[in-house]
Amino acid sequence: MIGYEIIAKKRDRHELTREEIDALVRNYSSGKIPDYQMSAFLMATYLNGMSFQEITDLTLAMRDSGIVLDLSDIPGVKIDKHSTGGVGDKISLILAPLAASMGVTVPMISGRGLGHTGGTLDKLQSIPGFDIFISTDRFRSILKSIGVSMIGQTEEIAPADRKLYALRDVTGTIESIPLISASIMSKKLAEGIDALVLDVKVGNGAFMKTLDRAVDLAQHLVMIGEGAGKQTIALLTSMDEPLGQAIGNWLEVAESIEVLKGKGPTDIRELSVILAAYMKSMADQKISYDVAYNIAAENLDNGKAFSKFIELVKHHGGDFTLIQNPQRYPKAALIKEVTAQNEGFVVSMNTYEIGMTGILIGAGRQTKEDSIDHTAGIILHKKVGDSIKKGDCLATIYTERETRLDEASRKLLNAYRIDFNAPDKQPLILGVLDKNGFRSI
Ligand code: URA
Repeated sequence: MIGYEIIAKKRDRHELTREEIDALVRNYSSGKIPDYQMSAFLMATYLNGMSFQEITDLTLAMRDSGIVLDLSDIPGVKIDKHSTGGVGDKISLILAPLAASMGVTVPMISGRGLGHTGGTLDKLQSIPGFDIFISTDRFRSILKSIGVSMIGQTEEIAPADRKLYALRDVTGTIESIPLISASIMSKKLAEGIDALVLDVKVGNGAFMKTLDRAVDLAQHLVMIGEGAGKQTIALLTSMDEPLGQAIGNWLEVAESIEVLKGKGPTDIRELSVILAAYMKSMADQKISYDVAYNIAAENLDNGKAFSKFIELVKHHGGDFTLIQNPQRYPKAALIKEVTAQNEGFVVSMNTYEIGMTGILIGAGRQTKEDSIDHTAGIILHKKVGDSIKKGDCLATIYTERETRLDEASRKLLNAYRIDFNAPDKQPLILGVLDKNGFRSI
């Protein structure tokens, strides 16, 4: 009866006790509560919300569904970063080795693609051999030897999030502040960090469409982190257009390699450098944000961050020769250009639709069981503010799925709004929130 009573209580908008939340998570993790009951609970939570106490209890119950790592024997301050999810968001692939190249220890637990957004784990798995499910002993030993390791939720670490994450993905229950908060923070509190930097996405390609909602989410995340004794800050960053040009797993790895070599799109470079500067200045109080910013930029230009990425791939069993020679990676069988039908400026992009187009052509999952085509994806040649002539190539589609090409082209074309007047430039970073509150920058 435990599942039924808790679902009914949440359906009727009553506050759940810690014991009830613990029982729900414990019994779901052990398989006693089936997916269909948990789906009903997730939907009741999505619709009726949770008090801050309930969210904290859910986070801690999910954290305690597995082990909580103690990394105190590994020298240095351990800091991770987590994004609430976006399209073309490959920042973790760059940031984790970049911060490690600056002396920050980065134990990172990431997720798969969720809804229309991509996931760091899927991107890492596009590197042949890269093992994201190493044992905790191996995770610790990689961290000790190179200062960075990247894994997924496992049977040992945050297993409840692993199951719930996959279930939310297919039950229309992603965009919920309580569920996102508990999902992110349960993983982060299990990984043995001292401090955390969050990238809370805002805009038409984010789960939080408005700044108010994003600030609300950021406040929850920061309060949970600080309540658990971890210094936590959140940057609020724009997701009104995809990050960079590449969408799709290997295409995003290839673009990350460019940025790690001091090249690549400026929005990705800038956000990576800013986040690394926060991580470094939090890890080492003697280093100011501005000094840390310069070190981060230097380490992208001098090859240190790239070398760290190669080490990371090597230690996880990945084929690092492909990182050294990305042009050797196989290409998708079908390549199609989407061209502009009129002239003007790109005034906006429907980032959600672009993410959904990526899923349609095989870069993400439509059901829990779907496998991903690592070569599938989109390269955007035009972004907001760019001027367009009729016939210009807006985007290139890479896929194996011939039957989806026409629909994907139509969706991409419709995702671009082209008009005569150039739009105002929108900032990438909208503000920062820490325990003292929100400030715009
Ligand atoms: N990232 C997570 O880990 N969980 C969410 O629910 C959203 C983004």
